[in-house]
Amino acid sequence: MKYVLALDQGTTSSRAIVFDHAGQIKSIAQKEFRQIFPQLGWVEHDPNEIWSSQIGVAAEAITRAGLSGRDIAAIGITNQRETTVVWDRRSGQPVYNAIVWQDRRTAGLCDELRAAGHEALFQRKTGLVLDAYLAGTKLRWILDNVPDARRRAEAGELAFGTIDCWLLWKLSGGALHATDATNASRTLLFDITQQAWDDELLEIMQVPRAMLPEVRDSSAVYGDTDLLGGGRIPIAGVAGDQHAALLGQACTQRGMVKNTYGTGCFMLMNTGDTPIPSQNRLITTTAWRIAGRPSYALEGSIFIAGAVVQWLRDGLGIISSSSEVESLAASVPDNGGVYLVPAFVGLGAPHWDPYARGAIHGITRGTTSGHLARAALESIAYQVTDLIGAMQGDAGLTLNELRVDGGATANDTLMQFQADLLGVPVLRPKVTETTALGAAYLAGLAVGYWSGLDEIAAQWQVERVFEPAMGRDQVDALRGGWDRAVGRSKGWTQ
Ligand code: G3P
Repeated sequence: MKYVLALDQGTTSSRAIVFDHAGQIKSIAQKEFRQIFPQLGWVEHDPNEIWSSQIGVAAEAITRAGLSGRDIAAIGITNQRETTVVWDRRSGQPVYNAIVWQDRRTAGLCDELRAAGHEALFQRKTGLVLDAYLAGTKLRWILDNVPDARRRAEAGELAFGTIDCWLLWKLSGGALHATDATNASRTLLFDITQQAWDDELLEIMQVPRAMLPEVRDSSAVYGDTDLLGGGRIPIAGVAGDQHAALLGQACTQRGMVKNTYGTGCFMLMNTGDTPIPSQNRLITTTAWRIAGRPSYALEGSIFIAGAVVQWLRDGLGIISSSSEVESLAASVPDNGGVYLVPAFVGLGAPHWDPYARGAIHGITRGTTSGHLARAALESIAYQVTDLIGAMQGDAGLTLNELRVDGGATANDTLMQFQADLLGVPVLRPKVTETTALGAAYLAGLAVGYWSGLDEIAAQWQVERVFEPAMGRDQVDALRGGWDRAVGRSKGWTQ
């Protein structure tokens, strides 16, 4: 009996999960690592810490399952997307910390590119908005600010990669400099229709082609690793975490939607073999590429979701563990007119305002920590609801249900409120580790461990359905309050 190992390199922790043939979890290992905030609005990770935590949990998960490397049929990698690493090809050492997707330092550069009239071109070719969130301007910042980086990059001495690419490099002992089509789709440098790096975009962004990785399918044998014992294990699947979760949720048909409640919230709709350009400031992206054929998705990206609960714990100190938020929120019957806009790192889709900042509105003498907890939880659901209208408009499809996953889906109050706001059932699956599961599926498909997408889709099972119960008048009143609160948070640091 063989298993598949998924490496899930996330924003706040590195995780590894061993799955069996039924798509069930055999073991999990997880390790948090340092978040580095050198200046206001800047967020960095140490790439070497990412690597050591990731390889550490990989070995731990195998041991915990009572297995050895010999029992692993394939490894799949999934990762926090857009986070940018540049390293020296000879020494393997990063030239700068990884600049994290949440980092806002390149907002001004995005303004410049927009003022120069490039926004429509970037959107047409890459499906993306010109925002500091994406990798391209982070890479440009490193080239412009790290001494000698540009010259060395032009001479072919430096390599660029998103986190998947960095892990592939490390796992293969420097033999692989490759990425998959989903991760490439987050760089502002990749034409998602042609499925190729684009010279015109590279020139505008001033990025030398010599530093780019080769782009491959999401499900393919990339190479192997001998770092986990038991000989060489094939690395056979790579995808950005949200794309992997779309597959892990078995959203394999056009029109199916999943939403992941992690540090941020990311809603993706499978749009089949056609990239649909957004009229509503969503992102068009490669869902995955299998056997050379890309599937596409529409995406709404929210930067702060579960992180708002962490802030209640670490910033405000009104709860001592994240799980306490549910009972604190339940200590009040409603939000008492309080709205919390968690624009801590600006606002993502559909607003795209890097200058927005967090705010709490509607505080009165009667406001308690319960109201704050409730407003924080509700802010997650409001942000998700803002995306649905945009997504339905773009795709010309009506949402019938929402499949959900991620840590915050354990919170029944939040899931019920989400169903109430959306007016459609919210479906929580039995296996909520869908990101890792999706990566395992991609790897398993490439080595024949699973036969195809149909076999995968048949494994998906629902654990609980949350049916909408709130009256539309009440929903409209709540959403009206939210809209006003968001409006007042925009442009704060401009
Ligand atoms: O785009 C960023 C996203 O991939 C990060 O996901 O789960 O690490 O918050 P997560």
